[in-house]
Amino acid sequence: MASSMRSLMSDPSRYLRSFRVFLAKSTEHQCMQEFVERQLPGVLASIGHGKPAINVLSVGGGAGEIDLQILSAVQARYPGVTINNEVVEPSAEQILKYKERVAATSNLENVKFTWHKETAYEYESRMNAEKNSKKWDFIHMIQMLYYVKDVPATIQYFHSLLEAQAKLLIIVVSENSGWETLWKKYGSSLPLDDLCTYVSSADIKRMLDSAGLKYQLHELPSDMDITCCFTEGDKDGELLLDFLTETLDFSKTAPPELKHQIMEELKKPGCSEKRNGKVLFNNNLSAIVIEP
Ligand SMILES: C[S@@+](CC[C@H](N)C(=O)[O-])C[C@H]1O[C@@H](n2cnc3c(N)ncnc32)[C@H](O)[C@@H]1O
Repeated sequence: MASSMRSLMSDPSRYLRSFRVFLAKSTEHQCMQEFVERQLPGVLASIGHGKPAINVLSVGGGAGEIDLQILSAVQARYPGVTINNEVVEPSAEQILKYKERVAATSNLENVKFTWHKETAYEYESRMNAEKNSKKWDFIHMIQMLYYVKDVPATIQYFHSLLEAQAKLLIIVVSENSGWETLWKKYGSSLPLDDLCTYVSSADIKRMLDSAGLKYQLHELPSDMDITCCFTEGDKDGELLLDFLTETLDFSKTAPPELKHQIMEELKKPGCSEKRNGKVLFNNNLSAIVIEP
């Protein structure tokens, strides 16, 4: 890896800007919304029977878009029941946006929100130091496992916090996505470090199988319009390329040969398809629901 390339996560504000372009150009949240509306009610059917309150833990909840949809599905399944929703999120900017979203949303009277500005690992360390073994009825880790140092240990820890009828939901990129093709081929040339690792549903399944955990898997078809990445100097295109390669200022800092190879790879069928003059990157996700 060329030493001039740095991880996108080393600049949190550029990371967030590129994540927002990614959300605008992809069906990422739409496909999750569809999952929440169609599949999640069945998943939630077991978690809250006869309970006076339902405890939900969001790990890496970001700005809360999907969290609020999940809470609405919990409310629909358990009308009037108190919900304690706690969020573990290290970004102050994301927490602020989450709070603004909550303030602007109606029908949340029975939901109590608590935000912890910390990483998953900091949460675990704090709970251990406090000898706190609080259990949860539903825990979700949506598109965040790339940013923890030890993925199997993180899954095992949060799995150990599940109540008897609870569920743990993980969403990551699918092993059938363009991400898998791109990262399997070029991951070793890109600045992956302990701020960001690449994991797909294939890795998570392997970890769950070796830990002997039971789970169901749902595929969520999604795409991302990356046409603007091919217009030299396009600002959104540059931010999307940073997000795709997890590299800060990829266009300016990547060695020309690597940049050329990745730009070609992005157009190939393993990564994307051409439709109506657009280049649509395969952003398929996998939702993995783990039993206690
Ligand atoms: C790609 S965003 C996903 C946000 C949200 N779950 C969604 O799907 O829209 C990843 C989130 O994980 C958070 N994050 C990064 N490192 C983390 C860690 N070690 N523990 C918990 N969250 C982390 C980031 O701040 C960011 O908000």
